[in-house]
Amino acid sequence: MSIEPQNDITYLDKSLRPTVWGDYIGQASTKQNLQILINAARERGHPPEHLLFYGPPGLGKTTLAYLIAEEMGAQIKVTSGPAIEKVGDLASILTNLSPGDILFIDEVHRLNKLIEEVLYPAMESGSLNIILGKGPGARVIQLDLPPFTLVAATTRLALLSAPLRSRFSGGTFRLELYQPEEIAQIIKRSALLLNIELESEAARAIAERSRCTPRIANHLLKRCRDFAQVSKTTLTRESVNDCLTMLGLDNLGLSPADRLLLETLVDKFNGGPVGVGTLATALSEEEDTIEDVHEPYLIQLGLLERTPRGRVVTTHGYKHLGRL
Ligand code: ADE
Repeated sequence: MSIEPQNDITYLDKSLRPTVWGDYIGQASTKQNLQILINAARERGHPPEHLLFYGPPGLGKTTLAYLIAEEMGAQIKVTSGPAIEKVGDLASILTNLSPGDILFIDEVHRLNKLIEEVLYPAMESGSLNIILGKGPGARVIQLDLPPFTLVAATTRLALLSAPLRSRFSGGTFRLELYQPEEIAQIIKRSALLLNIELESEAARAIAERSRCTPRIANHLLKRCRDFAQVSKTTLTRESVNDCLTMLGLDNLGLSPADRLLLETLVDKFNGGPVGVGTLATALSEEEDTIEDVHEPYLIQLGLLERTPRGRVVTTHGYKHLGRL
Protein backbone atom coordinates (compact mmCIF):
# COMPACT_ATOMS: atom_id res chain seq x y z
CA MET A 1 0.00 0.00 0.00
CA SER A 2 1.34 3.45 -0.79
CA ILE A 3 1.52 6.26 1.72
CA GLU A 4 -1.38 8.63 1.19
CA PRO A 5 -1.06 12.34 1.92
CA GLN A 6 -2.89 13.22 5.15
CA ASN A 7 -5.32 16.10 5.35
CA ASP A 8 -5.06 16.47 9.09
CA ILE A 9 -2.42 19.19 9.52
CA THR A 10 -2.24 18.72 13.30
CA TYR A 11 -0.75 15.27 12.96
CA LEU A 12 2.42 16.85 11.67
CA ASP A 13 2.85 18.77 14.90
CA LYS A 14 2.01 15.95 17.23
CA SER A 15 4.82 15.71 19.67
CA LEU A 16 6.92 12.61 19.47
CA ARG A 17 8.32 13.13 22.97
CA PRO A 18 7.46 10.32 25.38
CA THR A 19 5.54 11.64 28.40
CA VAL A 20 5.62 8.51 30.56
CA TRP A 21 8.58 6.36 31.59
CA GLY A 22 7.07 3.34 29.86
CA ASP A 23 7.48 5.06 26.49
CA TYR A 24 11.00 6.30 27.20
CA ILE A 25 13.39 3.89 25.50
CA GLY A 26 17.05 3.36 26.47
CA GLN A 27 19.29 5.27 28.95
CA ALA A 28 18.49 2.49 31.43
CA SER A 29 20.74 3.58 34.28
CA THR A 30 19.78 7.28 34.13
CA LYS A 31 16.12 6.31 33.92
CA GLN A 32 16.35 4.01 36.94
CA ASN A 33 18.12 6.60 39.09
CA LEU A 34 15.69 9.32 38.12
CA GLN A 35 12.67 7.17 38.83
CA ILE A 36 13.91 6.50 42.38
CA LEU A 37 14.72 10.16 42.95
CA ILE A 38 11.36 11.34 41.64
CA ASN A 39 9.26 8.74 43.44
CA ALA A 40 11.04 9.54 46.71
CA ALA A 41 10.55 13.29 46.23
CA ARG A 42 6.88 12.79 45.39
CA GLU A 43 6.35 10.69 48.53
CA ARG A 44 7.92 13.41 50.64
CA GLY A 45 5.79 16.05 48.92
CA HIS A 46 8.90 17.97 47.85
CA PRO A 47 10.26 18.95 44.44
CA PRO A 48 13.23 16.77 43.39
CA GLU A 49 16.71 18.21 43.90
CA HIS A 50 18.45 20.02 41.04
CA LEU A 51 19.49 17.87 38.08
CA LEU A 52 22.05 18.24 35.34
CA PHE A 53 21.99 16.31 32.04
CA TYR A 54 24.85 16.30 29.58
CA GLY A 55 25.73 14.59 26.33
CA PRO A 56 25.65 15.15 22.57
CA PRO A 57 22.64 16.97 21.06
CA GLY A 58 19.46 15.09 20.21
CA LEU A 59 19.69 12.36 22.86
CA GLY A 60 16.66 13.48 24.86
CA LYS A 61 17.81 15.92 27.56
CA THR A 62 14.81 18.20 27.01
CA THR A 63 12.54 15.18 26.72
CA LEU A 64 13.68 14.04 30.17
CA ALA A 65 12.97 17.46 31.68
CA TYR A 66 9.41 17.39 30.31
CA LEU A 67 8.95 13.82 31.45
CA ILE A 68 10.06 14.68 35.00
CA ALA A 69 7.61 17.59 35.09
CA GLU A 70 4.85 15.29 33.90
CA GLU A 71 5.73 12.66 36.53
CA MET A 72 5.73 15.29 39.29
CA GLY A 73 2.49 16.84 38.02
CA ALA A 74 4.48 20.09 37.90
CA GLN A 75 4.60 23.01 35.51
CA ILE A 76 7.73 23.42 33.44
CA LYS A 77 9.25 26.78 32.51
CA VAL A 78 11.76 26.55 29.69
CA THR A 79 14.64 28.87 28.91
CA SER A 80 18.27 28.66 27.82
CA GLY A 81 21.68 30.00 28.86
CA PRO A 82 22.03 32.51 26.01
CA ALA A 83 18.44 33.76 26.47
CA ILE A 84 19.21 34.97 30.01
CA GLU A 85 21.22 38.07 29.21
CA LYS A 86 20.92 40.11 32.38
CA VAL A 87 20.69 39.38 36.09
CA GLY A 88 17.23 40.96 35.91
CA ASP A 89 16.11 38.33 33.37
CA LEU A 90 16.95 35.53 35.78
CA ALA A 91 15.43 37.41 38.73
CA SER A 92 12.21 37.77 36.78
CA ILE A 93 12.13 34.08 35.85
CA LEU A 94 12.82 32.96 39.43
CA THR A 95 10.32 35.28 41.09
CA ASN A 96 7.61 34.12 38.70
CA LEU A 97 8.00 30.45 39.64
CA SER A 98 5.21 28.70 41.53
CA PRO A 99 5.93 26.15 44.27
CA GLY A 100 7.06 22.83 42.76
CA ASP A 101 7.82 24.23 39.30
CA ILE A 102 10.55 22.76 37.14
CA LEU A 103 12.84 25.36 35.62
CA PHE A 104 14.61 23.95 32.55
CA ILE A 105 17.72 25.79 31.37
CA ASP A 106 19.11 24.42 28.12
CA GLU A 107 22.71 25.17 27.05
CA VAL A 108 23.48 26.09 30.64
CA HIS A 109 27.21 26.37 29.80
CA ARG A 110 26.38 29.62 28.02
CA LEU A 111 25.15 31.42 31.15
CA ASN A 112 27.33 34.36 31.96
CA LYS A 113 29.31 34.35 35.20
CA LEU A 114 27.41 37.23 36.85
CA ILE A 115 24.16 35.36 36.33
CA GLU A 116 25.65 32.14 37.69
CA GLU A 117 26.43 33.99 40.92
CA VAL A 118 22.75 34.82 41.33
CA LEU A 119 21.83 31.22 40.62
CA TYR A 120 24.01 29.73 43.40
CA PRO A 121 22.01 30.97 46.43
CA ALA A 122 18.77 30.36 44.53
CA MET A 123 19.73 26.71 44.05
CA GLU A 124 21.23 26.20 47.48
CA SER A 125 18.93 28.01 49.85
CA GLY A 126 16.05 29.18 47.70
CA SER A 127 16.93 32.83 48.08
CA LEU A 128 17.44 35.57 45.59
CA ASN A 129 19.93 38.28 46.54
CA ILE A 130 19.36 41.55 44.74
CA ILE A 131 21.90 44.36 45.04
CA LEU A 132 20.38 47.82 45.03
CA GLY A 133 22.64 50.76 44.25
CA LYS A 134 26.40 50.90 43.88
CA GLY A 135 29.48 51.48 46.04
CA PRO A 136 29.40 51.94 49.83
CA GLY A 137 25.69 52.81 49.81
CA ALA A 138 24.70 49.58 48.06
CA ARG A 139 22.18 47.38 49.87
CA VAL A 140 21.30 43.74 49.41
CA ILE A 141 17.72 42.62 49.64
CA GLN A 142 16.97 38.96 49.97
CA LEU A 143 13.81 37.42 48.54
CA ASP A 144 12.61 33.93 49.40
CA LEU A 145 11.81 31.85 46.35
CA PRO A 146 9.23 29.08 46.19
CA PRO A 147 10.73 25.56 46.26
CA PHE A 148 11.62 24.59 42.68
CA THR A 149 13.79 22.16 40.74
CA LEU A 150 16.36 23.39 38.28
CA VAL A 151 16.90 20.92 35.45
CA ALA A 152 19.82 22.03 33.32
CA ALA A 153 21.22 20.56 30.13
CA THR A 154 24.51 20.97 28.34
CA THR A 155 26.45 19.44 25.51
CA ARG A 156 29.69 20.72 27.11
CA LEU A 157 30.08 19.66 30.72
CA ALA A 158 33.71 20.80 30.82
CA LEU A 159 32.64 24.42 30.23
CA LEU A 160 30.55 24.52 33.40
CA SER A 161 32.29 26.10 36.36
CA ALA A 162 33.03 23.78 39.29
CA PRO A 163 30.84 25.82 41.71
CA LEU A 164 27.86 25.52 39.38
CA ARG A 165 28.38 21.82 38.79
CA SER A 166 28.58 21.12 42.50
CA ARG A 167 25.13 22.59 43.12
CA PHE A 168 23.24 19.93 41.19
CA SER A 169 22.55 17.99 44.36
CA GLY A 170 20.10 15.58 42.70
CA GLY A 171 22.82 14.35 40.36
CA THR A 172 24.64 14.81 37.07
CA PHE A 173 23.63 12.34 34.38
CA ARG A 174 25.43 11.57 31.17
CA LEU A 175 23.16 10.57 28.28
CA GLU A 176 24.71 7.94 26.04
CA LEU A 177 24.38 7.36 22.32
CA TYR A 178 21.62 4.76 21.75
CA GLN A 179 21.94 1.19 20.53
CA PRO A 180 20.58 0.52 17.00
CA GLU A 181 17.78 -1.72 18.41
CA GLU A 182 16.71 1.10 20.73
CA ILE A 183 16.64 3.57 17.85
CA ALA A 184 14.59 1.11 15.78
CA GLN A 185 12.09 0.89 18.67
CA ILE A 186 11.89 4.71 18.86
CA ILE A 187 11.30 4.86 15.09
CA LYS A 188 8.47 2.30 15.32
CA ARG A 189 6.83 4.28 18.11
CA SER A 190 7.13 7.55 16.15
CA ALA A 191 5.75 5.87 13.02
CA LEU A 192 2.71 4.76 15.00
CA LEU A 193 2.14 8.30 16.33
CA LEU A 194 2.55 9.83 12.87
CA ASN A 195 0.41 7.22 11.15
CA ILE A 196 3.28 6.00 9.02
CA GLU A 197 3.23 2.39 7.94
CA LEU A 198 6.69 0.86 7.89
CA GLU A 199 8.21 -2.59 7.84
CA SER A 200 10.48 -3.71 10.69
CA GLU A 201 13.38 -3.93 8.27
CA ALA A 202 12.75 -0.33 7.19
CA ALA A 203 12.90 0.82 10.84
CA ARG A 204 16.19 -1.02 11.19
CA ALA A 205 17.58 0.52 7.99
CA ILE A 206 16.77 4.03 9.25
CA ALA A 207 18.23 3.16 12.68
CA GLU A 208 21.51 2.05 11.10
CA ARG A 209 22.01 5.51 9.65
CA SER A 210 20.65 7.62 12.52
CA ARG A 211 23.97 8.23 14.30
CA CYS A 212 22.56 6.50 17.40
CA THR A 213 20.46 9.67 18.00
CA PRO A 214 16.64 9.78 18.38
CA ARG A 215 16.31 13.31 16.99
CA ILE A 216 18.07 12.29 13.78
CA ALA A 217 16.06 9.05 13.61
CA ASN A 218 12.75 10.95 13.80
CA HIS A 219 13.95 13.45 11.23
CA LEU A 220 14.99 10.69 8.80
CA LEU A 221 11.72 8.84 9.35
CA LYS A 222 9.82 11.93 8.18
CA ARG A 223 12.08 12.36 5.14
CA CYS A 224 11.57 8.69 4.21
CA ARG A 225 7.83 9.16 4.60
CA ASP A 226 7.97 12.11 2.16
CA PHE A 227 10.07 10.08 -0.27
CA ALA A 228 7.72 7.08 -0.15
CA GLN A 229 4.69 9.34 -0.57
CA VAL A 230 6.10 11.13 -3.63
CA SER A 231 7.38 7.95 -5.27
CA LYS A 232 4.11 6.14 -4.48
CA THR A 233 5.85 3.35 -2.63
CA THR A 234 5.89 1.93 0.90
CA LEU A 235 8.58 2.21 3.54
CA THR A 236 10.68 -0.90 2.95
CA ARG A 237 14.40 -1.43 3.53
CA GLU A 238 14.95 -0.75 -0.14
CA SER A 239 12.99 2.50 -0.43
CA VAL A 240 14.45 3.76 2.84
CA ASN A 241 17.98 3.02 1.61
CA ASP A 242 17.26 4.86 -1.65
CA CYS A 243 15.96 7.86 0.27
CA LEU A 244 18.88 7.98 2.71
CA THR A 245 21.41 7.66 -0.09
CA MET A 246 19.69 10.52 -1.86
CA LEU A 247 20.05 12.57 1.33
CA GLY A 248 23.81 12.00 1.10
CA LEU A 249 24.13 9.60 4.02
CA ASP A 250 26.60 6.76 3.59
CA ASN A 251 26.18 3.20 4.89
CA LEU A 252 27.25 4.22 8.43
CA GLY A 253 24.99 7.28 8.44
CA LEU A 254 27.83 9.77 7.97
CA SER A 255 26.70 13.01 6.39
CA PRO A 256 28.73 14.79 3.70
CA ALA A 257 29.98 17.13 6.47
CA ASP A 258 31.25 14.19 8.58
CA ARG A 259 33.05 12.72 5.61
CA LEU A 260 34.55 16.08 4.71
CA LEU A 261 35.95 16.31 8.22
CA LEU A 262 37.67 12.94 7.87
CA GLU A 263 38.83 13.68 4.32
CA THR A 264 40.26 17.05 5.34
CA LEU A 265 42.21 15.38 8.14
CA VAL A 266 43.59 12.83 5.70
CA ASP A 267 44.25 15.12 2.72
CA LYS A 268 45.46 18.29 4.42
CA PHE A 269 46.94 17.01 7.68
CA ASN A 270 48.17 13.55 6.82
CA GLY A 271 45.52 12.00 9.06
CA GLY A 272 46.54 14.11 12.10
CA PRO A 273 47.21 14.78 14.87
CA VAL A 274 45.78 18.24 14.40
CA GLY A 275 44.21 20.66 16.91
CA VAL A 276 40.48 21.33 16.74
CA GLY A 277 41.10 25.06 16.12
CA THR A 278 43.16 24.36 13.00
CA LEU A 279 40.65 21.80 11.81
CA ALA A 280 37.81 24.29 12.33
CA THR A 281 39.63 26.90 10.24
CA ALA A 282 40.34 24.39 7.46
CA LEU A 283 36.64 23.42 7.37
CA SER A 284 35.26 26.98 7.89
CA GLU A 285 33.28 25.48 10.75
CA GLU A 286 32.76 26.38 14.44
CA GLU A 287 34.90 24.45 16.92
CA ASP A 288 31.76 23.78 18.99
CA THR A 289 30.01 22.21 16.01
CA ILE A 290 32.97 19.94 15.36
CA GLU A 291 33.16 18.88 19.02
CA ASP A 292 29.44 18.55 19.73
CA VAL A 293 27.91 17.45 16.46
CA HIS A 294 30.47 15.61 14.35
CA GLU A 295 33.02 14.10 16.68
CA PRO A 296 30.95 12.08 19.18
CA TYR A 297 29.62 9.75 16.50
CA LEU A 298 32.92 9.51 14.57
CA ILE A 299 34.65 8.62 17.83
CA GLN A 300 31.90 6.15 18.78
CA LEU A 301 32.39 4.39 15.45
CA GLY A 302 36.16 4.31 15.98
CA LEU A 303 36.85 6.38 12.85
CA LEU A 304 38.48 9.24 14.74
CA GLU A 305 40.48 9.59 17.95
CA ARG A 306 40.95 12.57 20.24
CA THR A 307 44.52 12.45 21.49
CA PRO A 308 46.41 14.96 23.68
CA ARG A 309 48.18 16.14 20.50
CA GLY A 310 44.98 16.54 18.46
CA ARG A 311 42.58 14.63 16.25
CA VAL A 312 43.74 11.52 14.42
CA VAL A 313 41.98 9.42 11.77
CA THR A 314 42.14 5.73 12.76
CA THR A 315 42.92 2.81 10.44
CA HIS A 316 39.20 2.08 10.49
CA GLY A 317 38.57 5.68 9.40
CA TYR A 318 40.97 5.30 6.45
CA LYS A 319 39.25 2.05 5.49
CA HIS A 320 35.82 3.65 5.60
CA LEU A 321 37.00 6.40 3.24
CA GLY A 322 38.47 3.75 0.95
CA ARG A 323 41.96 5.19 1.42
CA LEU A 324 43.87 2.15 2.61
N1 ADE B 1 12.28 10.41 21.59
C1 ADE B 1 13.41 11.00 21.97
N2 ADE B 1 14.05 10.27 22.88
C2 ADE B 1 13.30 9.17 23.09
C3 ADE B 1 13.44 8.03 23.92
N3 ADE B 1 14.50 7.85 24.70
N4 ADE B 1 12.48 7.10 23.88
C4 ADE B 1 11.42 7.28 23.08
N5 ADE B 1 11.24 8.31 22.28
C5 ADE B 1 12.17 9.26 22.28
